Amino acid sequence: MSDIEARKVEHIRLAVSGGAEGPLSTWFECVHLVHMALPELSLDDVKTSVEFLGYRLSMPLLISGMTGGTAEARALNERIGEVAQELGIAVGVGSQRPMLVKRSREVVESYAIVRKKAPDVPVIANIGGAQLKSLKIDDVEFLIESIKADAIAIHLNPAQELVQPGGDRDFRGILDRIAELADSMSVPVIVKEVGNGLSREVVYKLRSVGVRIFDVAGSGGTNWVSIEILRMLRREGGERYRSVALFRTWGIPSAAAVIEARNGAPDSVVIVGGGVRTGLDVAKAIAIGADLASMARPVLVRVLRSREEALRFLRGVRLELSMAMLLTGSRSIDELKRAPVVLTPPLLDWVRQRRLTIIRRGA
Ligand SMILES: Cc1cc2nc3c(=O)[nH]c(=O)nc-3n(C[C@H](O)[C@H](O)[C@H](O)COP(=O)(O)O)c2cc1C
Repeated sequence: MSDIEARKVEHIRLAVSGGAEGPLSTWFECVHLVHMALPELSLDDVKTSVEFLGYRLSMPLLISGMTGGTAEARALNERIGEVAQELGIAVGVGSQRPMLVKRSREVVESYAIVRKKAPDVPVIANIGGAQLKSLKIDDVEFLIESIKADAIAIHLNPAQELVQPGGDRDFRGILDRIAELADSMSVPVIVKEVGNGLSREVVYKLRSVGVRIFDVAGSGGTNWVSIEILRMLRREGGERYRSVALFRTWGIPSAAAVIEARNGAPDSVVIVGGGVRTGLDVAKAIAIGADLASMARPVLVRVLRSREEALRFLRGVRLELSMAMLLTGSRSIDELKRAPVVLTPPLLDWVRQRRLTIIRRGA
């Protein structure tokens, strides 16, 4: 097993452990949907479906990219694909970097299995922004074509790389490469974070070069600094531990990141990721400007146990979203985008100091 493969296996094991989240919050608790005691709706009237990448989804949800490249990852991706297909939600694969290192049939298949199991939902390819420097356009097209993806997600993860021994240290030239891809790819480019959030300024720059879909993946969910600390505790300690631990609270909480991203690109698709754990989180995020939500760790935890457990969990998320919609008098996701919201501190302070406003697309 290569170093990258070994790290991926360890990441999955540590990501499902209790120490992989926190101490930050998403700040969804600072978003209040105003209760509507007279909704004049039946729960059956509430429709959670949305369009995304040319498909109709049963709810505005994406299982975000996590894995691929190993036999264990293939088994996980197979289940994740089945779950996405069964529920009619979008699905991403993890970083396809291993496919470029070793183009063997087994490695490619560990990702392509997602499309095989999920023929009727959007499937999203994945590669790191830092890797783009050394890739040709043809390499990136290969990543898309080999899994018949509908879009490619470029992940920006400078904080994760910095805390990782052997991670990337040079983040120059990434914007230009993304601009080139946005201009020449056969499918839309999505830019995502992995748990530290996208700011208005970053989204604005990316929108200016043609990117129109963002997954803000803010803080409050899976925390890569915490995961790195768990890895380190097994191996070393001392000074490096102190420097890394300092950044456990680094990042833009997901609720703030939604408002940031929407202000940076009012006409784009904003996906809220990072710490989305319930259908109520999804409803709140949509009411402050998101179009869709994404979840990684909560799906991984369940899928590792069984496909049925993941299905039960995600059906529960859909029910929670429907309940929140009914209780705000929203018949559709477009109506939820117009539901009244109240923000409380610290999110309210953040929004004021950053001179942001709540902008709701389609509202
Ligand atoms: C085990 C694991 C592996 C991940 N691998 C990737 C990856 O390869 N590429 C990527 O863009 N994001 C990756 N992520 C980040 C997720 O896509 C997501 O943005 C992040 O975990 C925040 O969502 P969550 O709080 O719901 O987990 C990974 C997350 C987990 C838990």
